[in-house]
Amino acid sequence: MQKHRYDVVVVGAGGAGLMAALHASKSVSTAVLSKLYPVRSHTGAAQGGIGAALGNLEEDRAEWHTFDTVKGSDYLGDQDAIEFMCQEAPATVYELEHMGLPFSRTPDGRIAQRPFGGHTNNETGRPVRRACYAADRTGHMILQTLYQQCIKQGITFFDEFQVLDLILVNGAAAGVVALELATGELHVFHAKAVIFATGGYGRLWEITSNAYAYTGDGIAIALRRGIPAEDMEFFQFHPTGIYRLGILITEGVRGEGGVLINDLGERFMERYAPTVKDLASRDVVSRAMYLEMREGRGIGGQRYLYLDVRPETVNKYAALDGRTNPDGTPYQITADDIMAKLPEIIDFCRTYLGVDPITEPIPVQPTAHYAMGGIPTNKRAEVVIDEENTVMPGFYAAGEVACVSVHGANRLGTNSLLDILVFGKQAGLNAAEFARQTLFPPLPADAADFAREQLERLRNARGREQAAEIAKEMKHIMFDLVGVFRTEEGMREALDKIRELKERYQHVQIQDRGKVFNMELLHVWELGNLLDLAEVTTISALARTESRGAHAREDYPERDDEHWLKHTLAWMREDGVKLAYKPVVITKYPPEKRVY
Ligand code: FUM
Repeated sequence: MQKHRYDVVVVGAGGAGLMAALHASKSVSTAVLSKLYPVRSHTGAAQGGIGAALGNLEEDRAEWHTFDTVKGSDYLGDQDAIEFMCQEAPATVYELEHMGLPFSRTPDGRIAQRPFGGHTNNETGRPVRRACYAADRTGHMILQTLYQQCIKQGITFFDEFQVLDLILVNGAAAGVVALELATGELHVFHAKAVIFATGGYGRLWEITSNAYAYTGDGIAIALRRGIPAEDMEFFQFHPTGIYRLGILITEGVRGEGGVLINDLGERFMERYAPTVKDLASRDVVSRAMYLEMREGRGIGGQRYLYLDVRPETVNKYAALDGRTNPDGTPYQITADDIMAKLPEIIDFCRTYLGVDPITEPIPVQPTAHYAMGGIPTNKRAEVVIDEENTVMPGFYAAGEVACVSVHGANRLGTNSLLDILVFGKQAGLNAAEFARQTLFPPLPADAADFAREQLERLRNARGREQAAEIAKEMKHIMFDLVGVFRTEEGMREALDKIRELKERYQHVQIQDRGKVFNMELLHVWELGNLLDLAEVTTISALARTESRGAHAREDYPERDDEHWLKHTLAWMREDGVKLAYKPVVITKYPPEKRVY
């Protein structure tokens, strides 16, 4: 077994991990471990933009961005962290620009901005152009730009290393244990500080926009080490995934004027969100789509609707809405504009659906997209482990794996790219500062034992159960019963089935006993993570007897601030999942009823 020693070890090479590494490595030795080759990380799938009140095309303010984010979160977001993120946003975008990120531009050369759901001019209530974008490849460009900077800075990467365990010594992080996929060897990384930036867990649901690698590894590892998970009941369904496949069709399509249409040809969002219509927050739009489909107005009575971005449709509704360009002229779009602003989307639809969005509407359905919950952190990206927000020394988390909580019960589009960069940087800076002031903790002789036991048990598994079958059932149950709409009855049924699947997982079968790139072994280990998260998510959701943001209970349809204006903390104990709660940080914005 090989041993390595770095001041800071970053796990995950998406936007949060790379930003953390970039800033940590300026002052201390830093390594990045990633289960993928870095530029294959899921940040690359983010399309439409990064939110920042630059005001390049019309008036905008960081305070408006802050309020929109608080409102979008259904008042569950911690307002100190939200304010910090939104104030940092412009400087963060300019930092990327100075690294060379090829943003789309206005005719006079400034960073172009487009409207996105829930982002408004707080005085008029109308959508504001706040999303800075690079066509519809914004995440991809961020990933490439940051990776180039990391290479330039000489950061050490361990690609295709799967982290299996977090080493703790006297209640502080002391490193990680990882499996080198190419050889099957275990490696111990001894560190003064560890940063988790491992992303989310959308593969828990049947229809998802998430990459295959998004299996919640970081949260599951932390849970096994006694660290709680926060607000796991809040999982976002993005309104526009490609029908049946779930592949993301950016909200930027609606930002450019695309509209959702039902089987009667109605632009139904007018009824659900009269002011911002198709640009309401995602929870509102996804629920409206479900209601339309449930009432038989899905296309041909089926479980999909149309997203229509054909120039004639966009121009018709832009005229009805009175939408104008920044210079006050009527907003009009051509096929060439769509090709220039949304090239990836056009390509996806042509490739995967045989549909050309310039001449045909796109069949879409809500798709599991984003975890608002995760490992609890404060705004310095330090992991906090209880109701009193006690910091665990040396352990940091940023990006989708973390819950800081800037998204509360529902994230606004574009705030994920912002979150990964702002809090990735915080993680890097603060972990480096901690490492500079700390000696290496002693490394226990048995540091790798827990990881080795997990692997060997799986490698020798000779049961009868097929992992693929368990995964299929789990995803189906979660999509049907712990999805956009939820009930006590449905979630109890889901919980029983998940427990049954967990029991079956104990008898899983593995056929490949090899060491070199044993992907079967890896996928079965990942399935164990997803099953743990399915249980924690469902138990957290069952307990919350209200509707807030992405957690919509048909049996408790109202938000209940008197009893539920609080964050859930869930621990995985020997005798089951234990829940506790901690207060939401409210600074300037007392909860109000949300109207879009
Ligand atoms: O719709 C999108 O482009 C997705 C962006 C996001 O999740 O922030």
